[in-house]
Amino acid sequence: MPVQIGATPHDFSDPTGLLSDCHRRIEMFLRSLESLAAIVDRRLDEKSRAALVSALTYFREAAPKHTADEEESLFPRLRRIGQSEIQSAIERLEPLERDHVNASLLHRRVEDLGRKCLAEGSLPGEEAGEFRESVRNLAAIYQQHIHVEDTVVFPVAARVLSKSEKELIAREMAARRKVTAGL
Ligand SMILES: [Fe+2]
Ligand SMILES: [Fe+2]
Repeated sequence: MPVQIGATPHDFSDPTGLLSDCHRRIEMFLRSLESLAAIVDRRLDEKSRAALVSALTYFREAAPKHTADEEESLFPRLRRIGQSEIQSAIERLEPLERDHVNASLLHRRVEDLGRKCLAEGSLPGEEAGEFRESVRNLAAIYQQHIHVEDTVVFPVAARVLSKSEKELIAREMAARRKVTAGL
């Protein structure tokens, strides 16, 4: 049975569909962080604490696998194809990789501040402001980043990668999650 990675059940025969599913999940947890950012300077209730734990856990454990899917499985295969008609998509890959680095730095800060908030019940004003700014910057990065991947890179990949390359990507994605691809 196909294993669901994202919010909708694409299966491993459609790896870029799975990657877009992950984007929907990233957006969902970002929205959750944005809501929490408004109240981290107050004592969080149990529901908000649980939401913060879920979002931090997602971005600490699942999101890096998505980045690895792109940087280790998808992008190198697109670069190897190197056809001139997909050159404009290939040129988008380097800025996307820079976004990954910038986002991971911001995630680390959100993780540290989020943990402090959970340990101490709330964040003092200055750190609450830093939490808000980090989440705001993350949302800004992801908005254009996900748009480029969903509308430029993934459609090109779906079109130009062979069935066997897609299967290899799917197997690598499954291995990162310690599940079988069911292909
Ligand atoms: Fe990405
Ligand atoms: Fe992505």
